[in-house]
Amino acid sequence: MASTLAATGLTTGSAPFVEEARNRGELYITQAYELYSKPNHEAWASLFGRMNGRWERYANDHFLRGLEVLHLPSDRIPRLSDVNLRLHAMSGFEARPVSGYVPGFLFFDCLSRREFPTTITIRDQARLDYLPEPDIFHDVAGHIPMHTEKAFADVLVRLGECAHTAVAMAARVHDRAQQTRRLTSVMRAMSRFFWFTVEFGLMRTPQGIRAYGSGLLSSYGELQHAIESSDVQRYPVQLEWLIHQGAEIDHYQPLLFVVDSFDHLFSLVEQLESWMRAGKLDNVAPGLPEIAAGDLQSFLDAAESL
Ligand SMILES: [Fe+2]
Repeated sequence: MASTLAATGLTTGSAPFVEEARNRGELYITQAYELYSKPNHEAWASLFGRMNGRWERYANDHFLRGLEVLHLPSDRIPRLSDVNLRLHAMSGFEARPVSGYVPGFLFFDCLSRREFPTTITIRDQARLDYLPEPDIFHDVAGHIPMHTEKAFADVLVRLGECAHTAVAMAARVHDRAQQTRRLTSVMRAMSRFFWFTVEFGLMRTPQGIRAYGSGLLSSYGELQHAIESSDVQRYPVQLEWLIHQGAEIDHYQPLLFVVDSFDHLFSLVEQLESWMRAGKLDNVAPGLPEIAAGDLQSFLDAAESL
């Protein structure tokens, strides 16, 4: 059995070890490092190798320092236990392997506990640019170096706490239709915030605009496009705009928001939460992202359990 699994590897869309865990209802799993195939390690090496030059040019300094501190290997997939030893010492965060999609509330709840749900599979070597879902390169090379920066890690924790605030507020609404409507709107605002900052955020630096968003930092094509293309509109972040702005997911982002610093970003999360408490997120503009039934249910279940 083990040899059959090892032969298959841990490739996105074709990883029996992960699929079987998911079928058993297991969200949190082990990395099962011995199951990575040679092509899996080669895919990491190809992705990492071609990103290096682009990170030097377009990533913000906090990310570059994070890469250095973590010593991510360039020739093979990192062991999360090694990554966590260094990461934990920096910000208290740790990467926690998961079997796939993590329902919204559980994801934010992990962040509030300084745990980052981490995909262990890696995209097929033949389709390095094609990323239908997160993989370990996106999660570990794109996200984790940012988590070594304490000010950024604190932003993630505050976002996780916002989800708890959303749940506590939902628990106080007894009309089920109202509860669902408001919660969906609040979740859309939170999701847009996460999208336009943690995934696709830009920062103003003395060297010019640099990326700190992990969706950009893990994309060879989009990282350069986001900084250099005249097709991209880059605006100083405005919370009122961001929470009403649809997030387009299937092509390069035409609109990106720029923050001044992670302290600035942290103050925006504080503002997001205070607007949530004041009911100012209850009617954000409809549109993308869609709020998946499983994500909504995870928030409703948490509200129910209070
Ligand atoms: Fe991500």
